[in-house]
Amino acid sequence: MTPADDIYTRTVDGIELALVDRGSGPVVVMIHGFPLDHSMWNAQIDALAAKYRVIVPDLRGFGRSGVTDATVTMERLADDVAGLLDAVAPDELVTFCGLSMGGYVAFQFWRKYAARLKALVLCDTRAKNDTPEMAAARLEMADRVLRDGPAPLVEMMMPKLFAERTVKEHPEVVDALRQVIRSTDRRGIAAAGRGMAQREDMTERLGEIACPVQVIVGQLDAISPAEEMRAVAEVIPQAEFVEIADSGHMSPMEKPTEFNAALLEFLGRL
Ligand code: MLT
Repeated sequence: MTPADDIYTRTVDGIELALVDRGSGPVVVMIHGFPLDHSMWNAQIDALAAKYRVIVPDLRGFGRSGVTDATVTMERLADDVAGLLDAVAPDELVTFCGLSMGGYVAFQFWRKYAARLKALVLCDTRAKNDTPEMAAARLEMADRVLRDGPAPLVEMMMPKLFAERTVKEHPEVVDALRQVIRSTDRRGIAAAGRGMAQREDMTERLGEIACPVQVIVGQLDAISPAEEMRAVAEVIPQAEFVEIADSGHMSPMEKPTEFNAALLEFLGRL
């Protein structure tokens, strides 16, 4: 785990947000997926901090950050990250790296704060929004988690997160994630679930993204399929596409060596 002394909090728009802030150099912000926390990036924090300042928040409702009820939109989460950057790294251009829900937040950050972006890294995420059926299932899930806690979500999500081989060969990675989901506040899960259900479709806007972009996906990703991500990379003018072999949705955790090599190579060219 990341040493606790790397973690501190800042209050942004009335909510306390926790973040890991390690290293110095160009800023790389790393935003976790749903319903996780900063620790999913531990292997990247270690690998990047020698050359970069790595800022890794727990989003509102997750990890050690404060929680709000109702609906937390992807735009709200992007505003939180912008507020956090105002507080800890004002005037810095950043590379914004987001996985899955973190990618939905990355699109919103680009939409509102493109002038602050040096580059984007879109990991195992989707530009499309939810179909009506998916959105309805999320709202149902939100009600269920509020009633019963995160346990049912763990059972629902775990089979989709990892490649079979990871489950067999690295059960400790899978267990670590299971523990994170189990300890996440039910209100935070419900609020972000509702927010994802109402996120906008970004497909038509991909061609407008003017910064360098790396699109990284696990070859066996069951949530954001590699072919869909390849198509995303094809329409973003300055995008490159990287497929991580034998990995599922959690490519930074499942294949950290390969993932870090690709990311460091991209960062080194900026
Ligand atoms: C995630 O990993 O953040 C979620 O799978 C995203 C989603 O449910 O769409």
